[in-house]
Amino acid sequence: MEQKNMENRIEKVREYVDNVLLNMTDTVERRCAYLHLYGVAQACAMIAQKRKENVELAIVAGMLHDIFSYKTMDHQDHAHKGAVMAKEILNELDIFDNSETDMICDAIYNHSDKAVKQTPFNEILIDADVLQHYLYNPFLTVSESEKMRLENLKTEFCL
Ligand SMILES: [Fe+2]
Repeated sequence: MEQKNMENRIEKVREYVDNVLLNMTDTVERRCAYLHLYGVAQACAMIAQKRKENVELAIVAGMLHDIFSYKTMDHQDHAHKGAVMAKEILNELDIFDNSETDMICDAIYNHSDKAVKQTPFNEILIDADVLQHYLYNPFLTVSESEKMRLENLKTEFCL
């Protein structure tokens, strides 16, 4: 496997994600997909830096976490199916080793379980999902399942 620098690996994944999103025919959904996947990836970058976790892998998990939903327009069990798809994508790209791929895919697999406290790395993606929903429009109603996490994030980031 060719050694890549951090910036290139993130940009390689982004190239793949961009291609998926550019092929979405529904322009409203496509706009949501760009905002959400890259918004969550940016939130992952911030949270991972603050918590001293692996920033690069957190960003990749963010970019890929809902790719299944946007590629198939099927939201049923999207976290579990999305982890399988993310693994296929990462294997195809061949720029991450097995333990890195496992970390990314495990976070995606578990990201719908917002009520459960998970590993520090998996917590980043779940919290980033909540934070992106909030930052999209702080004046919208927050879902019950995200309220507690959002309050904790506001405290952590002094919002
Ligand atoms: Fe999401």
